[in-house]
Amino acid sequence: MDSVAAVEPIGMNESGINCNKPIQIAATCKVAKAHTRLRPNRTAAIEQHMSRWIRSMHSSPMARLAQATAAPASAKAPLLKTFEIYRWNPDTPAVAPTLQTYKVDLNSCGPMVLDALVKIKNEDDSTLTFRRSCREGICGSCAMNIGGGNTLACLSRIDRDVSKSTKIYPLPHMYVIKDLVPDLTHFYKQYKSIEPYLKQKTPAPEKENLQSIEDRKKLDGLYECILCACCSTSCMSYWWNSDVYLGPAVLMQAYRWMIDSRDHFGPERRAALQDPFSVYRCHTIMNCTRTCPKGLNPGLAIAEIKKQMALDG
Ligand code: SF4
Ligand code: SF4
Ligand code: FES
Repeated sequence: MDSVAAVEPIGMNESGINCNKPIQIAATCKVAKAHTRLRPNRTAAIEQHMSRWIRSMHSSPMARLAQATAAPASAKAPLLKTFEIYRWNPDTPAVAPTLQTYKVDLNSCGPMVLDALVKIKNEDDSTLTFRRSCREGICGSCAMNIGGGNTLACLSRIDRDVSKSTKIYPLPHMYVIKDLVPDLTHFYKQYKSIEPYLKQKTPAPEKENLQSIEDRKKLDGLYECILCACCSTSCMSYWWNSDVYLGPAVLMQAYRWMIDSRDHFGPERRAALQDPFSVYRCHTIMNCTRTCPKGLNPGLAIAEIKKQMALDG
């Protein structure tokens, strides 16, 4: 004969987290029916037990947590943030640039400014144009001016104060291709001019170029640069003299190759910069270092180049 002991493992756990519950409930009903036939006086007790267990399922901390997390984001009241975004279309060059206003519900948007831009483009205005790729602060393509500072949209948190709007412009003092996309052609030409690759006077080694741990450490704080151009486009000297001044991003990379122990062209690299403009337009104002979204210090690298150039004579 079935006994109550046979029923007890069936979902009687007050925490309500047993993952075999569907099977056990079916088994419980089967057993309860058997009891109805064989021992009618036990049916009420089993039903009571079952309903107590079902109630505990609904009120357990796990169940409450599941209900809370399952609530759709749209159930929250909208938290509308205003973004004012620079717009300019090369197809209508006679139309002056404007700031276009968009409202974004922060309760259905990711936390970063790039999330808001992607949401606007996907749901509101597919003509809004900006660069992005990695969404991880690695590719440097989403560099723009957000809330008055140059930074990466994917690393920039949305200011959740909805009483203030967030203004977004392309990187300053650059030609604009469209909306938030600057023309970086000149920037990359300057980068190419410093020959950003290993140059040696001796035949290439048969295997790899060895470097001591100490020498490798000298590259820390330099090799991490992602060439986003935030620093160069925050530098006032670069704004006014970018035709002749290389700017902090490119100069930091020039320094990175000058101090690489495997490179044999340090003096020549410095000699190529010996003119009044390439390096010496830097006046150590340090906007570059303040703005770098990767926490690097191009101002210091430029100071080191100047020091070494002075020693070179
Ligand atoms: S130094 Fe910083 S701000 Fe400048 S290009 Fe490199 S990563 Fe960007
Ligand atoms: S330190 Fe030099 S490179 Fe950096 S912002 Fe100032 S002038 Fe420009
Ligand atoms: S998308 Fe690559 S750095 Fe922002």
